[in-house]
Amino acid sequence: MAFSGLAAAALRRVDPERAHRLAVLALRYGPAPRRGGALGDPVLRATVFGLDFPNPVCLAAGFDKSAEAWAGLLRLGCGAVEVGTLTLRPRRGNPRPRVFRLAADRAVINRYGFNNDGLDAGLARLLRRDRAAGIVGINVGIDGDARDPAAEFAEAVGRAAPLADYLAVNVSSPNTPGLRDLQAAERLDRLLEGAVAARDAATDAPARPPLLLKIAPDVSRGEVREIVEVAVARGAAGLVVGNTTVARPAGLRDPAAREKGGLSGPPLFVRSTRALAWAWLAAAGRMPIVGAGGVDGPEAAWAKIRAGASLVQLYTALVYSGPGLFDEIAAGLAARLREGGHAGVAGAVGADAGFWAERPDE
Ligand code: FNR
Repeated sequence: MAFSGLAAAALRRVDPERAHRLAVLALRYGPAPRRGGALGDPVLRATVFGLDFPNPVCLAAGFDKSAEAWAGLLRLGCGAVEVGTLTLRPRRGNPRPRVFRLAADRAVINRYGFNNDGLDAGLARLLRRDRAAGIVGINVGIDGDARDPAAEFAEAVGRAAPLADYLAVNVSSPNTPGLRDLQAAERLDRLLEGAVAARDAATDAPARPPLLLKIAPDVSRGEVREIVEVAVARGAAGLVVGNTTVARPAGLRDPAAREKGGLSGPPLFVRSTRALAWAWLAAAGRMPIVGAGGVDGPEAAWAKIRAGASLVQLYTALVYSGPGLFDEIAAGLAARLREGGHAGVAGAVGADAGFWAERPDE
């Protein structure tokens, strides 16, 4: 089965975890999906963190948790695939059901709890990959009961580094108790110091993968400023802003909104875009920001870029729109860049950051 828009529509009738599994298997074993034309438009090419992205429309972590489907996903033409979150040991995650569609809001709530085959199994699937086939980031996390979180992160980063085009350190899943406390400046400082050292010990320059930090959207402006300072000081290459939210915005209509877990999709858009703008303003050109949260079409992707994103990532909208969405977004971005007289995405990054930074949450 090819993972087409039609298949995506059929999968929406199936239990969401089963649908996710079927989509991963279709991408892993199915025929090569068709690559969308606009995704190869040269106006969308961008060099970020020293890597050459064919376009800025990327797949967020959590879809290809165990690095099974990245090759099929890259063939779809997206700018990069972030596999993971992978943890040092395999994890079963939380009891089912643990993922819920909020169809009325085109959103999802998940409390998977880092189910994955473990870092060894994930890395084995990346061993002999053709690096020219596209950019693969490896997102790593830790167990909720880790005794020394900084040491576990360092070990995971060190093991993943040789096989990653970039690394993402995930301190922002709401489903692992205590994980998000690692975003506090002092703990983050120690964590990043260890992670960067482990990356450097495991790889030689210039093949060192840039290390990104993925944060929650549920942070204050002051916290974002502190995170940016620590990240820059410790040599992180950028931030991903951000993960799912534990907030439940007022306008949610679907009864599944009362489920516990991280909310993703359009209801997360304003909160995550505001945090993105805060990060971009605080970074002041010292590091690029990746924008994730509620990107469901060209308009939202364009708004993320203008709020400060050099690249955008998405996941939830794929559940509702299917993989043709990557190309649709690429076409819309290319048209907007040309209309605005921009030679590339970089020319539009942050143009509306001031507006987004002042936007009230919803
Ligand atoms: C996620 N996300 C996620 N992020 C991460 O860093 N590690 C993970 O394992 C997961 N797992 C996961 C599972 C499911 C079902 C969803 C919907 C999301 C978060 C994801 O990468 C992204 O940051 C948010 O979902 C916001 O983007 P969207 O979904 O609104 O486009």
